[in-house]
Amino acid sequence: MDTSLWYRNFGELEARGQSAIYEQWALGVADDPELIALIDELPLQKRQPNLVFACARLLGAPEGDYPRFRRWLVQHWSAVVPEAHARSTQTNEARRCATLLPALALIPGPLALLEVGASAGLCLFPDRYSYSYDDGIHIDPATGPSEVLLQCTTAGNLPGPVSLPNVVWRAGLDRRPLDVRNAGDTHWLETLVWPEQHERRARLRAAIRIAAEDPPFLVRADASELASLAAEAPSDATLVVLTSAVLVYLPFAERMRFVESVRALGVRWISLEGVRGLPTVRAALPDDHGSDGRFVLALDEVPLAFTGPHGQSLDWIAGR
Ligand SMILES: C[S@@+](CC[C@H](N)C(=O)[O-])C[C@H]1O[C@@H](n2cnc3c(N)ncnc32)[C@H](O)[C@@H]1O
Repeated sequence: MDTSLWYRNFGELEARGQSAIYEQWALGVADDPELIALIDELPLQKRQPNLVFACARLLGAPEGDYPRFRRWLVQHWSAVVPEAHARSTQTNEARRCATLLPALALIPGPLALLEVGASAGLCLFPDRYSYSYDDGIHIDPATGPSEVLLQCTTAGNLPGPVSLPNVVWRAGLDRRPLDVRNAGDTHWLETLVWPEQHERRARLRAAIRIAAEDPPFLVRADASELASLAAEAPSDATLVVLTSAVLVYLPFAERMRFVESVRALGVRWISLEGVRGLPTVRAALPDDHGSDGRFVLALDEVPLAFTGPHGQSLDWIAGR
């Protein structure tokens, strides 16, 4: 994709309404041929606005107006380049569990959860968070209210009752797993949250504290190596593969091979991906929905709901 257009789209479609700073930076870059030429020195997948901005902030870029940011970026570009090469976007959003929960409730337990592209594994703890849905449903773990309260608005006819899953095994794989006990890793996770999103950052810190009490079993592996980790799951639990905001990082042929590998395992599969994430899911969507930035929640490639990309909303479409 043309880098200028990429930054313009990011500014107008993703950052607008979410982060005034990122919106201004992205639109500034989009109209700045000198900056575009610098960013184009990076390999294609490293030109991502989210990654370039997070690397810059990690290294101390001022979170102010575009001219200040631009001056800083030009001066520090030689430091940003290796950082962008070494890192990737690994935003880990526990609130996505609020949209995963109704899909998990459709699967008979006990459950063994295996997340592909788990980042730090914060979505592997759906049973440790509290939930509040705007239709009056409030759910707490058996041990009492969690420090992490995930709020989610709903529309459509959610199947009830939604309850917490009985998770007896949890594991994740990631090309670069992040460790909730490692200060450098948690700082990177915090930096991936956009500048003004203080509530998200507070939720992230609280979810990290919960995960750090019982760190998840995370394996450094590629999505293509799913089968070997799946073989470690207990045979007396229902194995559920989770993919959330990860398929976009797999080139199409690789993604299709991954789809085949999940099907071959004969497991349940909950996916939470962009509309273009899975061709089978996209083909089954109602015509009147499309590319408004929302994700699609699907179970075994059957769409269930549109969701806010960070788990903030759930619009149930199955059975409509
Ligand atoms: C945007 S994060 C999503 C994290 C988490 N699933 C969530 O929803 O909060 C995507 C993660 O997928 C990982 N990833 C990308 N491509 C991968 C691949 N081919 N194999 C394994 N992990 C991959 C990245 O390293 C990153 O941690």
